[in-house]
Amino acid sequence: MAPSWLAVALMLLGETFAAQLPLAQPAQKSPAISDKELVSSSSLQDHIDADNLLERAKKLYSIAELSFDEYGHPTRVIGSKGHLATLDYIYSTLTTLDDYYTVSNQTFPAVVGNVDESRLVLGQEVPKSARPMSLTPPTKNKQPVYAPVVLVSNLGCDASDYPQGTTGAIALISRGGCAFGTKSALAGEAGAVAAVVYNNEKGSLSGTLGTPSPHHVATFGISDTDAAPYIEKLKGGEKVDGIAYMDAVVNTIYTDNIIAQTKQGDPENCVMLGGHSDSVTEGPGINDDGSGSLTLLEVATHLTKYSVNNCVRFAWWAGEEEGLLGSDYYVDQLTPEENMKIRLFMDYDMLASPNFAYQVYNATNAENPVGSEELRELYVDFYKSNGENFTFIPFDGRSDYDAFIRNGIPGGGIATGAEGVKTEEEKEMFGGVAGDWFDPCYHQICDTVANVNLTAWELNTKLIAHSVATYAVSFEGFPIRTESAMHSFDDKERKYHGPKLLQ
Ligand SMILES: *[C@@H]1O[C@H](CO)[C@@H](O)[C@H](O)[C@H]1NC(C)=O
Ligand SMILES: *[C@@H]1O[C@H](CO)[C@@H](O)[C@H](O)[C@H]1NC(C)=O
Ligand SMILES: *[C@@H]1O[C@H](CO)[C@@H](O)[C@H](O)[C@H]1NC(C)=O
Ligand SMILES: *[C@@H]1O[C@H](CO)[C@@H](O)[C@H](O)[C@H]1NC(C)=O
Ligand SMILES: [Zn+2]
Repeated sequence: MAPSWLAVALMLLGETFAAQLPLAQPAQKSPAISDKELVSSSSLQDHIDADNLLERAKKLYSIAELSFDEYGHPTRVIGSKGHLATLDYIYSTLTTLDDYYTVSNQTFPAVVGNVDESRLVLGQEVPKSARPMSLTPPTKNKQPVYAPVVLVSNLGCDASDYPQGTTGAIALISRGGCAFGTKSALAGEAGAVAAVVYNNEKGSLSGTLGTPSPHHVATFGISDTDAAPYIEKLKGGEKVDGIAYMDAVVNTIYTDNIIAQTKQGDPENCVMLGGHSDSVTEGPGINDDGSGSLTLLEVATHLTKYSVNNCVRFAWWAGEEEGLLGSDYYVDQLTPEENMKIRLFMDYDMLASPNFAYQVYNATNAENPVGSEELRELYVDFYKSNGENFTFIPFDGRSDYDAFIRNGIPGGGIATGAEGVKTEEEKEMFGGVAGDWFDPCYHQICDTVANVNLTAWELNTKLIAHSVATYAVSFEGFPIRTESAMHSFDDKERKYHGPKLLQ
């Protein structure tokens, strides 16, 4: 008896194993993959079509609308239903591509802030330009505090700049010299109940405190002109009282990066590219960065028709808008061995701005890991050979390439412009409207399907297909990575780390 049911049990087990094998070892399918023709730039570019991009943009907008109940408008900010559904859309698209990619989720903690209400009064006035800094803590018990205003000496980057009277006061501090987060923490340590940072350049000031510190106090930014009369009074020994009120929270939530790597191709030599899956709270983010993340999905889909020599790794970062959280986390988690496998990283953020310019990050070898400039030249050649003009723009840490270059990985990318203003000269070069923002709906509710220029989006998607195909075929002539470069860039000072000003 025993042997017979044992045999049945073994048979059942065997069947179970057999049934699971194709799932557990999808590598069995790879012979079929390598029968495919080797990818080429022109063949991959031929698949790119504006209509497909537009269809994906419409789909993404309907996904952003899932956040309506909670936010009152469409958004794909991390933690929202719109963002969760964006991740599902990307993940499920990739996993239906015939086992071409190994797809993974990387969960990481993300600090998010929200200001429900805020108010600043200096003397008898409400400075019009007053804005809460991102990731500001609330005032005590989320209540208004009435306090004298004290002027901080120098740039407020040193504890000794904070006078005795800072205890219980609102500290008024100049911008410059160090990060807003440093000023806020020093004000807090000196006993201030709130901090106000005034601009040392023309205009209003909004930025972020960056990584939370227990010493941070409620912090506002104001313009140079709004601050000027009070600075004068305080310098003249007059007394100024103020009211600071901040009803804000800072929380940690969890979100995901999605990574897809070709099963084929040399895994020791990868070409990597990324866009961000999230938007700001204020809107649906179809140009920022629906355009980049959908382009990646489109190129990843068409790449499956071909074979590759080098591994191709796509990334969809989360938490970009909160300060490049996903890409920072990803690079931070790489072992030195894994770091060295990435030959270069290409950043694709905002590819279809309505009042676009073709912008290439000015990533030079003099200031960045060697290879960045070769990548820059690939983009330059692409625009030239398509008969288009282009401009170089600062490579200053505003998007997800930052962690890569800080850790020795050559990087670069293209964009079509955010809140920058198009010049007359750029109007001659690209058409559009001089004096307007490149993206008039940047970080706003109107970043909808109507906020993309399909001409620019299609050409930039072809450029991305070209960049992927070129390096998927060969790294010949592209500089070899060296271990010594891995730590040469990590303390480089940048004005930005993400879309918001840090200092
Ligand atoms: C990865 O994330 C996607 C999107 O949120 C989800 O649908 C999928 O189930 C996750 N997969 C794993 C293995 O966690
Ligand atoms: C590009 O960067 C280099 C420094 O690496 C600088 O000399 C050059 O002026 C920059 N070009 C533009 C157009 O910004
Ligand atoms: C490139 O810019 C020049 C002006 O600098 C302009 O005359 C030309 O038409 C532009 N080319 C294209 C393709 O827009
Ligand atoms: C997109 O840009 C091109 C080139 O400047 C222009 O001809 C076209 O009208 C624009 N399309 C839209 C929808 O604005
Ligand atoms: Zn972006």
